[in-house]
Amino acid sequence: MMSDLNLHVLMMLGLLGGLCVSACAENAVALRELAARRGVLIGAAVGKHIWRANPAYGAVLAREFNILTAENDMKWRAIHPERDRFDWSASDPYVDFAEAHGMQVRGHTLCWHAPFNPTWLEESGFTRVDLIGLLSNHIDTVVGRYRGRVAMWDVVNEAVADEAPHGLRSTIWSQTLGPDYLDLAFRAAHAADPGATLVYNDYGGEAECAKADAIYALVASMRARGVPVHAVGFQMHIVDIDAESFARNLARFAKLGVDLHITELDVRLPTPPDGEALRRQGEIYRKVLRTCLLQPACRVIQMWGISDAYSWIPAYFPGHGAALPLDADFQPKPAWLALREELAVQ
Ligand code: XIL
Repeated sequence: MMSDLNLHVLMMLGLLGGLCVSACAENAVALRELAARRGVLIGAAVGKHIWRANPAYGAVLAREFNILTAENDMKWRAIHPERDRFDWSASDPYVDFAEAHGMQVRGHTLCWHAPFNPTWLEESGFTRVDLIGLLSNHIDTVVGRYRGRVAMWDVVNEAVADEAPHGLRSTIWSQTLGPDYLDLAFRAAHAADPGATLVYNDYGGEAECAKADAIYALVASMRARGVPVHAVGFQMHIVDIDAESFARNLARFAKLGVDLHITELDVRLPTPPDGEALRRQGEIYRKVLRTCLLQPACRVIQMWGISDAYSWIPAYFPGHGAALPLDADFQPKPAWLALREELAVQ
């Protein structure tokens, strides 16, 4: 007899189609429906090459999620490969896919640092005046192209340094423009699409710690200056979470009047994981989602991928992987079931 889990996966993949209309109605409720009832968006970072190569991936994406991020294809390297050329063939398919499936788009990202910037930008020795022009023009052009179609933008990504005293990371932007570059970026994005939610996005600031304090101070000072920063993104590439500390940290950010987004959640494990590790991982996913749902300002929860078949973790954290809620065969892991259960709480 087919287990509930296998049945659920077949339904996710659309293989049972109309067979389950009444008998499986409850099982068939997608994460995005459950999330909508709880007032949050749920989504993932994705790559168009993956949904083109693997239709099951596109089917799960469209069925289960209502927001997507382009994992790499809206970054400078992809979208602005030469100084005077933008490549919309990189980015348009995400906006088209989202619109075809009633999903929103998080644009990611308008201002980042080496080694993720194109070489032409990093290595041309641009002056202050050049860089102000380049950053303003990039943001104006990219945000302007998708005005009204990309609901939110990660405007500045990872500006805070990892090392104490957690000032600004040393980048072409901070070195050449000074701290004002963040204000410039947010103001340019707001001018290009006044309706978009503008996000400051970073990692390592989810639970209380010195880096979280630095992110808080940065966002607080921008808000105090009237800079249009509307939300804080917590990436959450994590191995564990102190849920109480996370909740307290979210609460203080919420008092700044910003929305809170979980933007890139994954929970990496040493590979290969055993059943206990997967169970524990499920509980971490559950705690993150529960904490978000208990905080009214927390409006979005996105993972950095869907299935362990496609994840950045093994390449960037050798010896680790299995970080996402579906396994490499698109079978639900305890993490997937935990997400479903938490979202289904009345
Ligand atoms: C990562 C992608 O997943 C990789 O494919 C790429 O090689 C490097 O970038 N924080 C971010 C994301 O904001 O853009 C990063 O994505 C992961 C960490």
